Amino acid sequence: MNSHVHIIDGTLDTLRWVGDALELIDQRGLPTQVRMDRCATVGEVARAIRELRVRGAPAIGVAAAYGLALGGLHARASTLPEFVSVVRCDADNLAATRPTAVNLRWALDRTMRALDEATDVDHGRALLLRAAQELHCEDEQNCRAIGAYGAPLIPPGSRVLTHCNAGALATTGIGTALGVIRAAYGAGRIREVLVDETRPVLQGARLTAWELAQDGIPATLITDNAAAHFMKLGRVDVVVVGADRITARGDVANKIGTYGVALAARAHGLPFYVAAPLGTVDFSLTDGDAIPIEERSSDEVTTLGGVRIAPHGIAVENPAFDVTPARFIAGIITERGVALPDFAESLSRLRAGETLPGPVIVPA
Ligand code: MRU
Repeated sequence: MNSHVHIIDGTLDTLRWVGDALELIDQRGLPTQVRMDRCATVGEVARAIRELRVRGAPAIGVAAAYGLALGGLHARASTLPEFVSVVRCDADNLAATRPTAVNLRWALDRTMRALDEATDVDHGRALLLRAAQELHCEDEQNCRAIGAYGAPLIPPGSRVLTHCNAGALATTGIGTALGVIRAAYGAGRIREVLVDETRPVLQGARLTAWELAQDGIPATLITDNAAAHFMKLGRVDVVVVGADRITARGDVANKIGTYGVALAARAHGLPFYVAAPLGTVDFSLTDGDAIPIEERSSDEVTTLGGVRIAPHGIAVENPAFDVTPARFIAGIITERGVALPDFAESLSRLRAGETLPGPVIVPA
């Protein structure tokens, strides 16, 4: 299916390195405008991440790694220690763009570690770029593996509900939650996908609905408010979402509204799965309440499509993410297998390099 390439015209990717710059789809214009954005400096990459031109935890990790490579390319440094300190400062600036998705910090730390091998400045530049390209390639493979591990969890004939966009646009592959949905659809297991619109920025309506339409996967767009209603009507069999940060015990930060979906799923006895690469797991945190939650501009709430929908002066709070406690999660689908509760144990086995046995396969 290779949908992340086919999505537009067979030549474009969510992001791509073009030799001296990072090109990315400006996701703010989707689905009506498909525009590529060119970032030639680390500052431009940081701005693209902050402004949600590129978004989704794995995609911003890869973009930031290329940002670091760009920073290295233009760094004015004559010695290796000088070079490393310039790049470290770039890494801190990139990490500050979005605080919740841990993939960002994880990707930057990994790319920085490549510099440990550097013998001089030019070598350092080459190592940064190679590290970013490896990360890019790995993310693509991770999505495929997540899809393969997750598909058997979807009972044949399922109606699947998803929230936000954890698809090709949020990664450099087929997506995490949408990776599972794509693989399950390919295996004939999905009848319909219900797509939450995902206010305030409408990643569901603008991005997920668009991706699924491009792939010809039957999808129905619903308002966020309607999710519990459709569960009560028996129109949902399983929920799959992505993640921005998962703690060592399996608490999951994801797009605002995810927690409500998980509560509704529990109330209706529906399995609620999270799909994410292991780079999304922050083993330094146990309690999900310790995850920093990004607060975004009030304009995202008081306007819709550029039109004001609330009175001037109204107080607004706009947390971009919420945290779903581990007890509401049936499984965390990773590139090395499906972690089941107790997540503290299953995630730590995955961290140690173990591959967990696959789920019981329900034949299609
Ligand atoms: O604010 P966004 O659009 O970056 O939020 C994205 C999400 O919450 C996704 O579900 C998450 O990053 C997983 S993407 C594979």
